[in-house]
Amino acid sequence: MTFQRSPIPGEDIRRAMEMPARRRELIEQSSSQLPQASYGVNELAASLHPGIVRARISEKRPAGVDCCVITLQSLGKDGRFAWFRAGQFITLSAEVGDSFISRPYSLSSSPKQALEGIYEITVQKKGIFSRWLIEEARIGEIVLVNEPSGDFYHDSLRDHDHILAIAGGSGVTPFVAMMKAIREGSEDFRLTLLYGARTLQHLLLKPEEYENERIRVIPVLSDEQSEGYFYGFIDRTVIAPYLDDDTTVFMCGPEAMYGFTAHELAELNVEHFRRERNSVGNRSVDEPQIFRLKVHVRDEVYEMLARSEETLITALERARIPAPVRCKNGVCGYCHSRLISGEYFVDEKNDFRREADRKFGYLHPCVCYPLSDMEIEIPILDK
Ligand code: FES
Repeated sequence: MTFQRSPIPGEDIRRAMEMPARRRELIEQSSSQLPQASYGVNELAASLHPGIVRARISEKRPAGVDCCVITLQSLGKDGRFAWFRAGQFITLSAEVGDSFISRPYSLSSSPKQALEGIYEITVQKKGIFSRWLIEEARIGEIVLVNEPSGDFYHDSLRDHDHILAIAGGSGVTPFVAMMKAIREGSEDFRLTLLYGARTLQHLLLKPEEYENERIRVIPVLSDEQSEGYFYGFIDRTVIAPYLDDDTTVFMCGPEAMYGFTAHELAELNVEHFRRERNSVGNRSVDEPQIFRLKVHVRDEVYEMLARSEETLITALERARIPAPVRCKNGVCGYCHSRLISGEYFVDEKNDFRREADRKFGYLHPCVCYPLSDMEIEIPILDK
């Protein structure tokens, strides 16, 4: 290949030689003010992804049986919480006894309330953290709130215009947020809620507070007969009248409900539905064992004990190691950590790692249980 050389035109050389003087002139003429330090796009990104925000518990209202609606007020620098899609969850963290525990909760407030600095969650008295929130946390107590996450929300590219929501117990929470969002105009779809509860007293909402031309609420009581209410379980006879080709089914509730409802939906030829996943807790082990767990966080090294029936995250929380935690069910990958040595167990149904992570020895401590002494490296918690 040959290249042709051509001389630089005289005009270009002249301009280049004049440039330093011209630049000096422009610098002298310029304002002594510093350039703009903030940009709209950066501010928007920061408000959508504020990371971890401090919040105070401003109200606690008993609801149903053994449940409580907890209002959180933002102590973030702009007094707001991050906007979210109705159906998403936040992760709360606080010191509980000697541990530093995190736990995800679906939001039951509306997206617009977030901009007023309010998040609401509905908590059922189950598990250490939820019991602490209901029984011990005082008004004014400070908790840490990680930004909203999860894909359990209506997406017009993915879902039909009509959602058939099947909820059990406190699993109604994300649908409460959806109904509020539809009512205030933040979301635009139709929702039919089949809501299973044991008795009238267990209901966490009054249907008439939400129903309009886009929202229908049909409570189904399993342990009590009451006029105007379905009695029994949400089976195919209850579901069928609300299904058509333009409907996407969403489910949220206890694990036992998922198996039953999936079977009923299969009988109605519905194979695809969206379900919210619950946090992974302890597993039962015939002979519980205690192992040593060594944890690297950048240059720090911590050593602690880990029980065979508890997840690695539980061991980290008990040792008060600030580990990144969000979903606690293996899906989000926020706790993604490197295995240095040791054996562990992860249930296939909670193993959402990428193939490359499995191959190169990464794990999600929120769903892994130790089977031997272990050494892992966890990411630093970005605050
Ligand atoms: S916290 Fe989401 S995968 Fe572990």
